[in-house]
Amino acid sequence: MTENDYSTTIVIFGASGDLTWRKLIPALYNNYKKGRLAQCARIIGYARRPYTDADFRARLREGVQTFSRESFDEAVWQAFAGMIGYLRGDLDQPQDYLRLAASLQDMEQGPANRLYYLATAPEHYAVSVECLGKAGMTTQEECWRRIVIEKPFGVDLASAQALNRAVHAFFEESQVYRIDHYLGKETAQNIIFFRFANTIFEPIWNRRYVDNVQITVAETVDVGHRGGYYDKAGVVRDMFQNHIFQLLALVAMEAPSSFNADAVRNERTKVLESIRPIQLTDTVRAQYEGYCDLEGVAQGSITPTFAAMKLYIDNWRWKGVPFYLRSGKAMTQKTSEIIIEFQQPPHLMFNLTDVKQFTPNILSLCIQPDEGIHLRFEAKLPDSSQEMRSVDMDFHYRTSFNGILPDAYERLLLDALQGDASLFTRSDAIEVSWRLIDAVLQGWEQEAAQNSDALATLLTYTQGSWGPEEADALLARDGRRWRLGCQDEASTIHTGEAAAHP
Ligand code: BG6
Repeated sequence: MTENDYSTTIVIFGASGDLTWRKLIPALYNNYKKGRLAQCARIIGYARRPYTDADFRARLREGVQTFSRESFDEAVWQAFAGMIGYLRGDLDQPQDYLRLAASLQDMEQGPANRLYYLATAPEHYAVSVECLGKAGMTTQEECWRRIVIEKPFGVDLASAQALNRAVHAFFEESQVYRIDHYLGKETAQNIIFFRFANTIFEPIWNRRYVDNVQITVAETVDVGHRGGYYDKAGVVRDMFQNHIFQLLALVAMEAPSSFNADAVRNERTKVLESIRPIQLTDTVRAQYEGYCDLEGVAQGSITPTFAAMKLYIDNWRWKGVPFYLRSGKAMTQKTSEIIIEFQQPPHLMFNLTDVKQFTPNILSLCIQPDEGIHLRFEAKLPDSSQEMRSVDMDFHYRTSFNGILPDAYERLLLDALQGDASLFTRSDAIEVSWRLIDAVLQGWEQEAAQNSDALATLLTYTQGSWGPEEADALLARDGRRWRLGCQDEASTIHTGEAAAHP
């Protein structure tokens, strides 16, 4: 018998929280509906609230009805809900874990695999791991024990290292699945397929042809009710250290030797290791107007809700190619997009009035919400002698695949159950990215500390804008500008009589 022949129990810690209700249970329900949870025999919620099994299921049902991307089916729900139970306990009380262990053994009636999911507030991660370890719940004999840990994984390098040590005291790295839900998005997973399952892109995917790379992750939502968490984190910890750096790694990595977790994660980590320390003069930070009025936000807070930065990857493929990254809350448009801007042709023989108006080839990988890939190139305007227009070749998931894209958590939960860690972040990658981010955050802190008016070191921007002008200036000083593939300049007409060449 192999470990895969045994049934599996999923235990969710912090099960009364938002994540379980909005994401985890809807994702598990969808997997169940698609017939992919055959081996999972029970899903046990663990938290402090005094729920009965029935209360817990009723709340989760509402969550599935509200958030599931698949339609709600009563019969499927009833069968699925039959697997769900709830146990009350504290996250830091060792005796509660002993009770939990005994209850699980009663339910399992023999060896069973276990997936522990830490959906708690981050301050409980280390203590939960320790309690699990001391209750003997992490030892693998004939069945596996795995742990999924939500973001944020630490708040800086030192805390991430401490958490890694706490986790490794009871779990081998191969048992640990650190979530970055951006890696589970279909469009992010597709980057590797786009690059390495085709032959035409990879030969030009380097410093000889690429002028610059841009990653925009813009959100229209503001910080809302998350002021307490966000004011301590800020946009760089919340979005750059994890999601944006992982997108960057997918775009910039070398081809892995095989499609297994270690090979893929080695390549992603190597990219992060090759990033040159970021210059403070290549960063912009800003806060949207009105942020300080939110509940949970400190008066006079200098937490940025927007940041932009330029960085370089010092390796053979990318040396000298700038990567521009930006992200913010309360912006004008929700979009996550990666732009590969190619170099201008070496010689332009056409008549152009203003060569600066010439649009280079742009490949845009739209992560969300309009998932797809667009390639922009110049075409001759019909019935003209030398006029050109930028046109797009488009791929849209919604038309090509005709269906709803699954939520990232569906793939991630399934992969954790199946033991595939490719889409999870390894301890070394987490530490490398914190090292880069720490230097930026410390630089900003020093600037604020040296200024008699700390607030003056932070720019502001209007809600519903693209952030401060300084973010545009960051590119303008290099003779570049932010691009968005989907809507930007597809109808630009380039015309002219007098020839001008770059
Ligand atoms: C989370 C951040 O990790 O990602 C949030 O904490 C952010 O602040 C969210 O809103 C964005 O995720 P998505 O999938 O909506 O782009």
